Amino acid sequence: MTAIGIHDIELASTHHVLDLAALAATTGVDPDKYRIGLGQDEFSVPAPDEDIVTMGATAALAVLDRNGLEGVRTLLFATESGIDHSKAAGVFVHQLLGLPPQVRVAEIKQACYGGTAAIQAAIGIVQRNPRERVLVIASDVARYALDSPGEPTQGAGAAAILIAADPALIEIEPATGLFSANVDDFWRPNDSSTAIVDGKLSISAYLDAMTGAWDDLAAQGGPAISAINRLIYHQPYTKMARKAQARLAEYTGVELGDAGLAEGAVYNRRLGNAYTASLYAGVASVLDHESGLTGKRLGLFSYGSGSVSEFLTGVVQTGAESRTDHFTSVLDSRVPLSVPEYRELHARALPSDTDVVTPRVTAAPFRFAGIEGRARRYERR
Ligand code: CAA
Repeated sequence: MTAIGIHDIELASTHHVLDLAALAATTGVDPDKYRIGLGQDEFSVPAPDEDIVTMGATAALAVLDRNGLEGVRTLLFATESGIDHSKAAGVFVHQLLGLPPQVRVAEIKQACYGGTAAIQAAIGIVQRNPRERVLVIASDVARYALDSPGEPTQGAGAAAILIAADPALIEIEPATGLFSANVDDFWRPNDSSTAIVDGKLSISAYLDAMTGAWDDLAAQGGPAISAINRLIYHQPYTKMARKAQARLAEYTGVELGDAGLAEGAVYNRRLGNAYTASLYAGVASVLDHESGLTGKRLGLFSYGSGSVSEFLTGVVQTGAESRTDHFTSVLDSRVPLSVPEYRELHARALPSDTDVVTPRVTAAPFRFAGIEGRARRYERR
């Protein structure tokens, strides 16, 4: 059987960042609640000329620069921060990257799980024709109401992932564990720019989905817990990965300690929640911060509120050895906001009845230029 999986992965984020210590100083919350209690240090904040398209295109540009376009006939864009009810955000990326017309483009949605759904669809396409490669983009902006418990877990980021045969980084294994249930833990109605969340329910729904998906993985012939060397989780905030690992240890009766949790949290602690991109930021973080993983098996837990979840496994390939951390310098280059500046940006809403010209702020290769006749316009910077 052809080995199929992640051939390359690149992350992107925003122009701005908010330090959670600054938020804590304003709200009077103990900064350790954010740093230790949630496991978060900062969160990314988009400039007015940035969004899921500009982040996704920036990440994808790096992947295509390294790997070329050969065989790419599909672009799947996973997001829960859609910018249009009808048109896929990936169509704008298609234009920005100058992709040929012979590329199908579609958007996939199921909360934070969408990136994994896109990867599974991509694997199916490559399985049918191993000469094809699929560009998957997972890109999101996590927004909660100001002064809500979710506020410190906001964030933004994108992951561009190239799915191919004989992958350089991770071969995804065929057995997979699934768990879906209709639950009102987190959702965003069409008329709301912020999510509605029942925080405590969302945590228990996540953990129950994880054990449910784990049971299904076992039923599908997946590996025993002792045959998995590193576990990487969807990280709405990095403490959630700690909770998940502790629950899995208790559930399986195998001591897992905190192995791999710090390595998998390096980027996520600073991005904040990147929804569909969060798990894959964790994957990149592990590959970039841990050596000697070649031949080792990763377990990946993907959770999308509402809820759909999947436990998948993959074996690290030799190409991972050449990865180094270049994303920390990208995170370091973000421009800090004061709390009042962040609040002003948070309150900003695009008018629906007039054209918009956005201020030039981003230093990324692409920008959201504005709205003309209700149609969004993007450009190379
Ligand atoms: N020092 C150290 N730790 C402290 C502290 C201090 N001074 N003060 C509090 N803490 C700890 C608490 O003990 C608690 O730890 P445990 O979780 O281990 O018990 C932690 O900080 C959080 O504090 P609270 O329990 O008071 O919780 P909160 O009211 O701040 O809400 C939250 C936390 C529910 C996660 C909230 O941030 C939220 O609603 N977030 C959005 C929803 C979310 O991320 N849910 C996760 C699962 S759903 C999902 O994964 C999908 C998704 O992406 C949204």
